[in-house]
Amino acid sequence: MADERDVVIIGAGAAGMMCAIEAGRRGRRVLVIDHARAPGEKIRISGGGRCNFTNIHAGPKNFLSKNPHFCKSALARYTPRDFLALVERHGIAWHEKTLGQLFCDGSAKEIIAMLLKEMREAGAELRLSTDVSSVERTGTGFRIATSDGPVQARSLVIATGGKSIPKMGATGFAYRIAEQFGLRIVETRPALVPLTLDPQSLAEHDGLPGVSVEVVASHGKTEFREAMLFTHRGLSGPVILQISSFWREGEEIVLHLQPDLDVVGMLASARRTNGRQAVQTVLAEHMPRKLVQLLVGRAGVEGTLAELSGRKVEALVECLRRWRIRPAGSEGYRTAEVTLGGVDTDDLDSRSMAAKFVPGLYFVGEAVDVTGWLGGYNFQWAWASGFAAGQVA
Ligand code: FDA
Repeated sequence: MADERDVVIIGAGAAGMMCAIEAGRRGRRVLVIDHARAPGEKIRISGGGRCNFTNIHAGPKNFLSKNPHFCKSALARYTPRDFLALVERHGIAWHEKTLGQLFCDGSAKEIIAMLLKEMREAGAELRLSTDVSSVERTGTGFRIATSDGPVQARSLVIATGGKSIPKMGATGFAYRIAEQFGLRIVETRPALVPLTLDPQSLAEHDGLPGVSVEVVASHGKTEFREAMLFTHRGLSGPVILQISSFWREGEEIVLHLQPDLDVVGMLASARRTNGRQAVQTVLAEHMPRKLVQLLVGRAGVEGTLAELSGRKVEALVECLRRWRIRPAGSEGYRTAEVTLGGVDTDDLDSRSMAAKFVPGLYFVGEAVDVTGWLGGYNFQWAWASGFAAGQVA
């Protein structure tokens, strides 16, 4: 006899746990299956261990998808304020770091403990270290073959996330199930990921790894302003992760370094005070010395302020404002925070996350072709899409 449930959810991450809480509250008999030894592993490591659990400004504009309208309904019905209310009900202390990003004061583990408590109270069962070998359609729902025996479910929710960080158990399982049931997949690629540079550019950046600067990074009309970090492989930091979701192989990104610095005014004023100062010395008062060396080298600038021609100032300004970089690639799924693309939203109902042509089948969270910016947006999508499916599954 197969174990019978109303709802089986595969994946005990952010989206799966939220869906379990909501379906359980409706009195559904819920079982959550995960092959990992612990639930919510990505929550645990997120936000440097403090979990950037939502963004108070989250809205459809902060998400990438083939259909930018798809996320609207779910995001409107479960908002950052709703999740914050849950966090506060559990007495978890939080703070806004920057740009609407909300973090735990203590540990991301508090968010996992909160979700597990809510699941228990809603009567949802969690089965860990359990592999799923196959899923088949039956007359009344689905038969799920697991390492712990078969389970029969009326509704099946796939909440197994994307492909990022395979070392943490990411598998691409959701795409396989989607294809098995005839749903389409929007091509997937690593996103929110550090970018790599070719050996020549890396040699030029010698000495810079570890240096961080404020930057406006742009790709076409899209731009972000945050910190950039030079690494041994290329470029990272929040601004690079953001722009990586928009960048494609072979394309350029443009960097505006130190956007608040009025270089022309600063150099003119320093020249009036003391024209004998080396240009490098003056610039190094405003940015890391290693970066100054790179910039003056690129602009062909040397000598003192008094010797600096108007053309050289322009060249320097150009290097600072429009530093064009053609990344060689990205660090890939090994370090990507999320997966762009996924289950095609054309094949899902935007209110419930249900597959349009397969009754009882749902896809939630990162598995779906909805990808947030960096800054708490991806968890907000996980909560909102899990909530949406939990109302009907
Ligand atoms: P998620 O990946 O969380 O969960 C999927 C679950 O399914 C896992 O428990 C996995 O073990 C299980 N699973 C997978 N395949 C399976 C299979 N075949 N059988 C059974 N179980 C299976 N976002 C944000 O908003 N704020 C932040 O601070 C961060 N920080 C961050 C840091 C790092 C290092 C990463 C990698 C990612 C982030 N993110 C983030 C992104 C965020 O973690 C991500 O978008 C959500 O966890 C997605 O939630 P899901 O529930 O969809 O998948």
